[in-house]
Amino acid sequence: MTLADPMEKLSVRLRTGTRMDHDAAQGSGFLDRLAAGELPRQAYADLATQHWFIYETLEQAAAVMATDSVAGSFVFPELTRLPALTDDLETLLGPGPQLTPLPATTEYCARLRAVAFDHPWGFVAHHYTRYLGDLSGGQYLGPAIAKAYALNGAGHRFFVFEGVSPPAFRTRYRELLDQAAFAPDDEQKFLAEVTEAYRLNIAVLRELKERWA
Ligand code: HEM
Repeated sequence: MTLADPMEKLSVRLRTGTRMDHDAAQGSGFLDRLAAGELPRQAYADLATQHWFIYETLEQAAAVMATDSVAGSFVFPELTRLPALTDDLETLLGPGPQLTPLPATTEYCARLRAVAFDHPWGFVAHHYTRYLGDLSGGQYLGPAIAKAYALNGAGHRFFVFEGVSPPAFRTRYRELLDQAAFAPDDEQKFLAEVTEAYRLNIAVLRELKERWA
């Protein structure tokens, strides 16, 4: 995280303050190679598998936090990804395979359990990093992967948010961030946790890159 003007809105400080973290995630290499179709289809199935574990935990946190006065406003049923991921994995791997998380995925899920189930700052930090990313870069990545691996409809539902307009949703989400009633200390914890969420995502992408190099 880099320093940002404290007078700016939270959504702006967040985006400015984590730009380098985002660029490191974007530049980690694995996603670019997938989008270019340079890796086997199993590598994409492996990414979907890691996502399955991460979203299973994040969406369990969403169910718990739905009634929280701060975190609850970020819980949107239409964002839920686990059914789409389950469906994608069935297309990619066939029914009922044994799914195994990478060590970095296990660490990511442990962090979610530590901070996203009872701290609004922790939940919103992890929610933002995944879903706003999916509704931003994910909207370029999904069609590129579908094309590269000849997926026609099935196998890339993770990237398709039925009934959601990504640009309108991103605008609404930033407004919610700017209205979020974090305690002053919690706002700092939130910003630091977004950097941590990027680090955890980068670690998963690094392990995937090593496995499929
Ligand atoms: C190939 C990889 C990636 C590409 C091409 C990409 C691209 C983008 C683009 C174009 C935006 C919109 C920026 C804007 O509105 O000006 C964005 C935003 C975002 N991305 Fe990525 N991204 C990638 C990877 C990631 C990863 C791995 C994560 C984290 C898991 C992530 C999280 C985010 C978030 C949270 C935002 C919203 C930033 C904000 O407006 O507050 N991205 N990305």
